[in-house]
Amino acid sequence: MEIKEYVLSRKKKLFETIKVMKTKPHLAILQVNDDDATNAYIKGKMKDADELGVLVTHLKLPVETKECEILKVVESLNNDDEIHGFIVQLPLPKHVDSEKIRVAINPKKDVDGFHPLSTLKACTPRGILDYLKHLKVDLVGKNAVIIGRSFIVGRPMAKLLIDESANVTVLHSKTKREDMYNFLEMADIVVVAVGQKWLLNDDHTFKETAIIIDVGLSRVDGVLYGDVQPGRNVFLQTPVPGGVGLLTRLALFENLVEIMKNEI
Ligand code: GUN
Repeated sequence: MEIKEYVLSRKKKLFETIKVMKTKPHLAILQVNDDDATNAYIKGKMKDADELGVLVTHLKLPVETKECEILKVVESLNNDDEIHGFIVQLPLPKHVDSEKIRVAINPKKDVDGFHPLSTLKACTPRGILDYLKHLKVDLVGKNAVIIGRSFIVGRPMAKLLIDESANVTVLHSKTKREDMYNFLEMADIVVVAVGQKWLLNDDHTFKETAIIIDVGLSRVDGVLYGDVQPGRNVFLQTPVPGGVGLLTRLALFENLVEIMKNEI
């Protein structure tokens, strides 16, 4: 099943779950940056919320808001009984320490699953893992190569794949080019989350049986690109746009509903 169909079928199930809930889930989105990508991500999440019957409070602060002011808003969301979960949209402006914000969020309300004490899986890795399971991909003893070591994708993805008994290698900006070629040639699963147009391209060789999950999204001259040039000779390559982004958005609302179930 293509990602779009898969997301649609899970979304229908989630809609049915939410429909019979006594209390409608209420998500808050805290936005500080005002760039096109952030606005587009949030617009997509609000559309999904509307379709799923989830209430959303969107708090947009000016870009120059001080870190201490953002922390105060986080604290008020932590203490607001009307809000079941919230996210602080990343990236935050440069003058803000994202790490401080990340750990200030009550883990019980951390829909993103970014807090070190969160029991939820981070949205993008969760979405990817659920999709791989849906495809019945056997991960045990498989070589999984992750490119990118971010807190949003690379690190939590590595943890989930380790838990599935895959052999996990995390590559990053300091990895030698030559080594990257070698790791990729051996990879059964590649998850690439860098944000650089076609970082992986005709120069790279993959197993014909490989699965490439493209988390990258970059805009060049108004056109969206993934981290992987389309048309690799592999078993499966996820498209951009219309690929992992849809999985992430779905996982966000699945996490929100999970938070509410945990409360009961
Ligand atoms: N920015 C890009 N993706 C995400 C995400 O999944 N969560 C948050 N909070 N910010 C993001």
